[in-house]
Amino acid sequence: EKGGFDSFMEKEIHDQPQAVADTLLGRADASGRLELDELRIDPQELKDISKIVVLACGTSAYAAHVAKYAIEHWCRIPVDVELSHEFRYRDPIVGPDTLVVTISQSGETMDTLMALRYAKEQGARTLAICNTNGSSIPRESDAVLYTHAGPEIAVASTKAFLAQITATYLLGLYLAQLRGKLFQGEIKDILADMADIPAKIQDILERKDEVISLAHAMKDTTSVLFLGRHVGFPVAMEGALKLKELAYIHAEGFAAGELKHGPIALIDEGQPVFVVVPSPRGRHSMHSKVVSNIQEVRARGARTMVIAEEGDTAVGEFAEWVFRVPETKTLLMPLLSVVPLQIFACALAGAKGLNVDQPRNLAKSVTVE
Ligand code: F6R
Repeated sequence: EKGGFDSFMEKEIHDQPQAVADTLLGRADASGRLELDELRIDPQELKDISKIVVLACGTSAYAAHVAKYAIEHWCRIPVDVELSHEFRYRDPIVGPDTLVVTISQSGETMDTLMALRYAKEQGARTLAICNTNGSSIPRESDAVLYTHAGPEIAVASTKAFLAQITATYLLGLYLAQLRGKLFQGEIKDILADMADIPAKIQDILERKDEVISLAHAMKDTTSVLFLGRHVGFPVAMEGALKLKELAYIHAEGFAAGELKHGPIALIDEGQPVFVVVPSPRGRHSMHSKVVSNIQEVRARGARTMVIAEEGDTAVGEFAEWVFRVPETKTLLMPLLSVVPLQIFACALAGAKGLNVDQPRNLAKSVTVE
């Protein structure tokens, strides 16, 4: 049942190429035209919405955070991301022109279910992105887009996260298609790049030993920081969350640009810092700013562990350790850059002799508020 691995978590990390491929399967025709028939929502209604609110908790909320960058860029619709449990208690502005998207692996997270019910009372259209067929959240939503990650057994989410990002991107492309915001050829190109992602994840998995040896060498670490910018920012937060929940290590993810506004005071001799570097082929200024951030923390004594694209020669000089991810579009990078961070947390927890599938104090689905 664990497919030859020691834990479900390892198996599920290795299921990720399939999770992404299955979530993409059968959604578009040969010309790249998306047909999300299962949505059960009138395309005209989707055309008329003027804002999107994405509600989720934990790892699913980081998927939402990634989705915001893509959907706003492709569709030019404002996207707010909010933790489900915060949303409901602050008199949020939602109405019939709002599409409320919930993201939940289990479909049973009480905080998200209650937020969904609240949004419905306010007259919002609701769409669930969910991994569990027939669970409460999709059942109570107007529309549903299933992720096809397969059952996720380990408490900490991995493959569901990649499938959620994939599904939100399909939604973003579909909305862009409906609203005429992207040419069909552009959508086709992005879908083709997404179709290449599973093989690229596989390439990362084949080099997992580079990450596992680092994790073993760091097993006595008590604090790790993660930095990222743009879509790398939620990846940094997810890397930190995995490490907290699996290895019980204090970890924090920051937006790299925020460093000088406070967190840089945390850096002293030997502080480990992971940096998720955007593609040098994307927006040049963004890449060079993150490289400067590596320099800044390194100059203050940090140990710098860098996730960078193949061929990015700018990072080598300031990095103690570099893990290379294959080239892809900037917006697709989270689907690759999070994988070494998952492997790191899992291997470090393993090195500490912890139960990676069932971390202390946590439950797979949080059915209380
Ligand atoms: C983290 C993790 C949790 C869940 C969160 C939401 O590894 O598993 O943070 O992501 O509890 O759960 P779902 O997606 O089932 O609503």
